[in-house]
Amino acid sequence: MSAILIPEEKTAFGVYVHWPFCAAKCPYCDFNSHVRHQPPDEPRFAAALARELKHFASLTAGKTVTSIFFGGGTPSLMRPQTVQAVLDAIAALWPVADDAEITLEANPGSAEADRFRGYRAAGVNRLSLGVQSLDDTSLKALGRIHDVAEARRAVEMARATFPRLSFDLIYARPQQTLRAWRSELQAAIEMAADHLSLYQLTIEDGTPFQRLHAAGKLVVPNAKRAAAFYALTEEVTAAAGLPAYEISNHAKPGAESRHNLTYWRYRDYVGVGPGAHGRLTLAGARQATATERHPERWLEMVETQGHGLVTDETLSLEETADEMLLMGLRLREGISPERFAAMSGRMFSEARLSPLREYGFVEPCGEGRLRATRDGWLVLDSVVADLAA
Ligand SMILES: C[S@@+](CC[C@H](N)C(=O)[O-])C[C@H]1O[C@@H](n2cnc3c(N)ncnc32)[C@H](O)[C@@H]1O
Ligand code: SF4
Repeated sequence: MSAILIPEEKTAFGVYVHWPFCAAKCPYCDFNSHVRHQPPDEPRFAAALARELKHFASLTAGKTVTSIFFGGGTPSLMRPQTVQAVLDAIAALWPVADDAEITLEANPGSAEADRFRGYRAAGVNRLSLGVQSLDDTSLKALGRIHDVAEARRAVEMARATFPRLSFDLIYARPQQTLRAWRSELQAAIEMAADHLSLYQLTIEDGTPFQRLHAAGKLVVPNAKRAAAFYALTEEVTAAAGLPAYEISNHAKPGAESRHNLTYWRYRDYVGVGPGAHGRLTLAGARQATATERHPERWLEMVETQGHGLVTDETLSLEETADEMLLMGLRLREGISPERFAAMSGRMFSEARLSPLREYGFVEPCGEGRLRATRDGWLVLDSVVADLAA
């Protein structure tokens, strides 16, 4: 495993905008997404997003925005004018770097050429498509609103419109064979994305999939088989020149997501919109923010008090250390011990490191940096708990 990622931007500063609506709720998903029978009042939401952005701008004067990410939910349900209004609000509050990465998440079931062109004209330069599978039966089983043909059309449209494209696939699905996943993954790579997010199906609490799983009606691979899926994913993507730069994210060198690197490198970002999280370094301490999840309640809070914050707290040095490890060890480039010490006031403890090294879960990776190995990635929560204890 070599460690070549885009250079670390010490002044990275991201803005995350959450759009909490979807056309239908997928039975595996526990994201903050809501289905509404009446379309949301977009100008009202755009105005509230602008107001909440203003609140955060007052705390982050002097920063330059290096990335913006519209996530969801399904941001491709937003009208291009709404995206434009939010981008204008951001540009009125902070300088935005000329080369800022501006990503929008799109569902192939709500992909239209005109809309894509509108997003591009508004300034979006990277699209992230939720393809999920290149198999029609699996798309039905996942409760998706699109088929493979629509997903392929959306990919082509996105390629014709945006300079950069990523798409998501979910693997280790019920009944999926390793052989089928290999050919699906190869087909995905041939669709010529330079960035792929490849997620193992997770059974999330409170979802219909969890109820089916608990009733024995939905069977997912056990840990050993899931590890085989993971190893195969690594083998096929690395051979195609898209190695994992993070547990679930694969890119050609240089095509990594700058915005997501900002999270994993534990740099600062603001999160606006219902249920958005942010992390800021204020007066040398790490500040954690989270907003109200319910869309209409969030709207009312912003309209009455200027923000929808339900969490706004300073993390202890111990919490900062835990988070930084959990984020940074997801990356192939690992963590710098100096930065870890500067943020958390702690050093890596040799007594804790050496058994993890012996088990092959962590390894040095140049300039004193520490990273999790592929085996370590499979048990990352325990590795972090051991290191941080
Ligand atoms: C906000 S969605 C992407 C955009 C859009 N909502 C869509 O689904 O097309 C984020 C991604 O998380 C992944 N995801 C959500 N729930 C998951 C689960 N339970 N297991 C694995 N991946 C999941 C999916 O790949 C999905 O594309
Ligand atoms: S996977 Fe995407 S489209 Fe499906 S419910 Fe979750 S956020 Fe919405």
